[in-house]
Order: sequence, then C-alpha cells, then structure tokens
Amino acid sequence: MKALAARRRSRSAPVILLLLALLLTGGMLALVDSGTADASSSEDVADDVAQGERIFQANCATCHGLDATGNDVGPSLVGVGAASVDFQMATGRMPMRINGPQAESGNPSFSTEEISQVASFVASLGPGPSIPSTEQVDPELGDAANGMQIFRTNCAMCHNAVGAGGALSEGRFAPSLFESTPTEIYEAMQTGPQSMPVFNDANIDPDAKRDVISYLMAQRDTSVGGISLGSVGPVTEGVWVWIVGMGLLVGISVWIGAKSS
Ligand code: HEC
Ligand code: HEC
Repeated sequence: MKALAARRRSRSAPVILLLLALLLTGGMLALVDSGTADASSSEDVADDVAQGERIFQANCATCHGLDATGNDVGPSLVGVGAASVDFQMATGRMPMRINGPQAESGNPSFSTEEISQVASFVASLGPGPSIPSTEQVDPELGDAANGMQIFRTNCAMCHNAVGAGGALSEGRFAPSLFESTPTEIYEAMQTGPQSMPVFNDANIDPDAKRDVISYLMAQRDTSVGGISLGSVGPVTEGVWVWIVGMGLLVGISVWIGAKSS
C-alpha cells in the first residue's frame, strides 16, 4: 500500500493517468465507428425463391410476419421489391439489430447469394422495384456534371453538397455516401429508406440516376483539408472538444498544481 501511495504522489502519475484516459476514450470511439458495408449485389435475381423463403422465416419473420405481411414490429414487405431487400441487407441494416431512431448500417449478415435469394422471395410476393443492372449503375456511362445539378437540387440538403452526410432531427442522420456502392446509391433513390424520400423514375429518370452515381463516385478522390471528423454533425465536434479541450484543461491544472507544491 505504501509503495502504491508513494507512486501515486509521483510527479508523472497525473500525466500517465491523463494519457491512459485519452487512450481509453480513443479506443472506445474506434469501436463505435465501425465502417459501413461494402457488399455488392448480384444481378442474378432469378434465384431459388424457396431458399429465400427459408432464410426469411428464420431471420426476418419475427418482425415482418411469416408471410411478410408485417406485424406490430415491422412493416409489410409485399411490393417493396428486390431492390429494397438488397439495399437493406447489403448495407447491413436488416435484419435489424437494435431499436433506435434509425436502423443502423454495418457489415452484412448474409452472403451476396443469400441476399439475392431473399430478394427473389420478396419480389415473388408482389411487384416492386428490381435490382438495377450493372449497366444502369456504371459510373463511367453517366454524366457527372449533370449528376451534380441533380444532386445539389434533390439530395444535398440532407447529405451535404459532396455527399459527406449530415445530421437530421430527432437523432436521425443522412449518412455519408462515400462508402456506398453504385448499386446501393441507385437502390436508395428507388426505395427511399426510412426518412429519405423515394425518387421514382418520374422524379429522376434512370439515366439521371446514373449521372448522380457518376457525380458521387467522382467525389471520393478529391478529399481536401485533411481527415474529416466523420461528418455526423455536432457529436464528433463535441467529442473532439471534450477530448482535446478538456484534456488540455486538466493538463494545465495538473501542471499548475505541480508547480505550486
Ligand atoms: C428486429 C426486427 C426486424 C428484423 C429481425 C428484420 N426487420 Fe426489416 N424492418 C424492421 C423495421 C422496424 C422496419 C421499418 C423501419 C426501418 O426501416 O427502420 C424494417 C424495414 C425493412 C425493409 C424496408 C421496407 C420498405 O418499406 O422498403 C426491408 C426490405 C426489410 N425490413 C427486410 C428485412 C429482411 C429481409 C430481414 C431478415 C433478413 C429483416 N428485415 C429483419 C424490423 C426488422
Ligand atoms: C430528407 C433527407 C434526404 C434526402 C433529400 C435524400 N436522402 Fe438519402 N438518406 C437519407 C437518410 C435519413 C438515409 C438513411 C436511411 C436509413 O438509414 O435507412 C439516407 C440514405 C441514403 C443512402 C444509403 C447510404 C448508406 O449508408 O447505406 C444513399 C446511397 C442515399 N441516401 C442517396 C441519396 C441520393 C442520391 C439522394 C438524392 C437523389 C438522397 N439520398 C436524398 C436522407 C435523405
């Protein structure tokens, strides 16, 4: 005990403690900030509906009902189409893990093949948007300048002018689009997940959707001004001030205390 007390009074103890605290906070942040999914979708929709139904009943039926017509927890999936299932599962939003203001994205829980099977099953229940073809989402074929116009008019108020994302009300946020695959971008416009509006082909026709994809893909290699703070609004900036600002204050107090004693 005596040895410990002596060490606690050592001059370097506060500094070591401070460093440990900073390290811990940083580690926790890294854990929370687990990246988004980078799964691509298969074009091949004509898969085994029966297999998809089995996966659905084992993993989704508790919230969406055995026949996918919905229950108290989840909405009916009749008519949402393969595109919606592909988007929700490929971005790891479904199966939903925790209840919150917004289904969290993350690593997909299923393989591309399984996702396409579930998508075929849901598509078989009623007509809805299908998964876009590779050609429909090929950024090389789109016009990025026109895409920018469309994006700035229709998307930038939520997702920021270059797609970096931004905060919305009630704990919801429009995510950064830097990790989204072209297919996911197309599907998000087609299906309008949660608080995002649907942009059907009358609003933004398929060619214009591809232009938007071109524009968004072109934003990724032009990052300027160093590392971003994640762009999820005031939270990151607050954490930054908390760690650096508070750390600095504590450090100064310790320094003054050490000097006067
Ligand atoms: C814990 C409950 C839960 C589970 C499990 C779950 N979902 Fe969902 N799902 C929801 C809720 C709630 C919504 C609506 C709100 C939202 O999107 O966050 C939703 C929305 C969806 C949508 C969007 C519907 C639309 O209108 O476009 C799809 C597609 C979907 N789920 C598919 C699935 C699939 C496929 C699985 C299984 C792999 C699954 N879900 C498992 C709760 C769940
Ligand atoms: C009213 C605000 C709003 C507008 C306008 C909007 N979005 Fe979104 N968008 C959202 C929200 C909220 C989500 C997250 C939904 C979720 O988590 O299910 C989202 C999700 C997305 C995603 C999925 C990103 C991911 O993390 O997987 C893409 C891609 C996307 N939007 C593209 C667009 C494009 C392109 C437009 C314009 C044509 C647009 N959005 C317009 C609010 C918006």
